[in-house]
Amino acid sequence: MSGGEPAAEVLEPVSAAVPEAPARTADTEAVEDAAVLDRATHRRVRRRSRALLYSLLRPWRWQVVVAMAALILENVAQLIGPLLIAQAIDHGIPRAVAGDSGRLMWCVAGFTGCGVLAAAARFGFFRLSGAIGQSLLLDLRTRIFQHARRLPVAFHESYTSGKVISRLTSDIDAVRDLVEGSLDGLLTSLLTVAGITVLLLWLDLPLALIVLVSIVPLVMMTRWFRERSQRAYRRARNTVADIITQFGETMNAVRAVQAFRAERRKHAAMNDLNEVFRDAHTEALGVVARYTAGVRLAGNIALALVLALGCWRVNEGALPLGVLTAFVLYLRRFYDPLDELATFTNLYAAASAALEKISGFLATPSSVPEPEAPKPLPADRPGRGRLVFRAVDFRYAADGPVVLHRLDLTIPAGQTVAVVGATGAGKSTIGKLAARFYDPSSGQVLLDGVDLREIADADLRRELTLVTQENFLFTGTIAENIALARPGASRAEVRAAAEAIGADAFISGLPDGYDTEVRKRGNRLSAGQRQMVALTRAFLADPTVLLLDEATSSLDIPTELTVQRALGALLADRTAVIIAHRLSTVLAADRVLVLEHGRVVEDGSPRELAVAGGPFGLLYARWSASLGEDADPDRPGAAPGAR
Ligand SMILES: Nc1ncnc2c1ncn2[C@@H]1O[C@H](COP(=O)(O)OP(=O)(O)OP(=O)(O)O)[C@@H](O)[C@H]1O
Ligand SMILES: [Mg+2]
Repeated sequence: MSGGEPAAEVLEPVSAAVPEAPARTADTEAVEDAAVLDRATHRRVRRRSRALLYSLLRPWRWQVVVAMAALILENVAQLIGPLLIAQAIDHGIPRAVAGDSGRLMWCVAGFTGCGVLAAAARFGFFRLSGAIGQSLLLDLRTRIFQHARRLPVAFHESYTSGKVISRLTSDIDAVRDLVEGSLDGLLTSLLTVAGITVLLLWLDLPLALIVLVSIVPLVMMTRWFRERSQRAYRRARNTVADIITQFGETMNAVRAVQAFRAERRKHAAMNDLNEVFRDAHTEALGVVARYTAGVRLAGNIALALVLALGCWRVNEGALPLGVLTAFVLYLRRFYDPLDELATFTNLYAAASAALEKISGFLATPSSVPEPEAPKPLPADRPGRGRLVFRAVDFRYAADGPVVLHRLDLTIPAGQTVAVVGATGAGKSTIGKLAARFYDPSSGQVLLDGVDLREIADADLRRELTLVTQENFLFTGTIAENIALARPGASRAEVRAAAEAIGADAFISGLPDGYDTEVRKRGNRLSAGQRQMVALTRAFLADPTVLLLDEATSSLDIPTELTVQRALGALLADRTAVIIAHRLSTVLAADRVLVLEHGRVVEDGSPRELAVAGGPFGLLYARWSASLGEDADPDRPGAAPGAR
């Protein structure tokens, strides 16, 4: 019997159902990406957007107050107009006909004065609100960019760059449309509606009641409209992010797309997204169409009723004609702003959907937060560069597979460790943990006895450099790209670093030498050349701990020999973890770790392990066989190019 379940099981404690401040996870993200949000999420998201808006406006609060004052002044000046017209019709004109035109003159002068005042106030308001709006947008853009820059690698590995870009471009645009286009419309509308309501009630109660009754359907329509358009815009926001992601991916990977003839498929995916986007916007505009038409209709019906009742009352002598004129004039101004309110609500819906997304992005906490009270690493500590993994377990996602199992590893200062293992064994993960791109799920990573979580970011970056295969070069010259490691390094220092690595020869051979722009057409560097630049950069950085993740894999054999020699210099006084596929690099190390499925299965000097008959011995035998010679483990660099 399904109805007989105990109530206690159904009623969960409220606190469990509605968590106060749920942690942001991939799940929250998915929840917020839904077009229809549940109540609790909606409330949380709205509170967050509002807090963001408030923090953006705070520095401008005085300007906001002055702008509002100007706006109120303008509206009051505007509202006085019809009253003066009523005066003129009911008193000024009859007296002027009788020969005394003084009253009429005053009315005309007052009307003109109000017009001038309204214009001046409007000018003031626009100047101020323009300045506030633009500064606010600048602030918002800066915040998004700074936040994106500060978020850890872990974040960027899960949040696509397309999403970040859409936060910075199209979401900001939606907010801009609101700030630039219609904020004044909204405020004017609200003030006008409020002011006119008071005036109507004062002018004639029975007529005013008709108008007030007509507001009821208007309010209902507005609520319906807000909900529906918000939903459509939320969908549009999500789609924009997907479109930018698709577009960015296709453009960035244009070689792969063309090489695999994936243009068609990419095209189809893009088309689908564009259609979803079109549909979302069409839906939003359809909602606008129904709403504005409804508002107009309600307004016109009310106006007709007011005119009918008003004329009858004027006929009866219960209402002066001037007052009816003023009433109708006010009424026109009463419904017009409502129309504008629709435009505004529409822009507001788009902007607030965008603001929801932006505030969500800005609220993403760092998964590797900077310590609040960082521990300094003493500069003159003896034997600096001791790297320790203590009982480290690691998984990339809370519900993901375990990638490293209870890794215990002590690398004494100055030691060079080569990490080898099959693909997916967890080699790069060790590098990422040492560089603190991620924190271990449990256990600790320590540098000179200090947990990485307690070291200030700047200190850690200075002590430790990770060079990967993705040797990214930034727009700028080669010298600038190398000097990135140490801003302010002189040309001589840059050159010395390049000479030490053996990159000087090829750089000097480029059209503009060290001043060659690397991203200019025709100056693209080869993969190997980029790697040389990256190694030079690391050399110049002069870190205590160097992590190389397959950093020599794109070099040709002669170049690798050069680098092999340079690596000797590069690794001389520092701790190094080298993730390598080449035997030459491995044999030059002090120690080899063999990793299998996230566990260290062998640990020892390459010479010992080569003959120990374990996994490394097997690997070594295969390497040697593939070279067709008896490689001598005592001769470092004996098997260049072995893979
Ligand atoms: N960003 C990530 N998110 C989730 N899982 C990841 C991520 N990076 C790697 N993994 C997973 O972690 C495991 C170890 O990956 P890792 O990159 O450390 O391997 P690797 O030993 O460096 O392999 P390769 O020799 O191919 O570079 C793999 O199973 C991989 O699928
Ligand atoms: Mg790897």
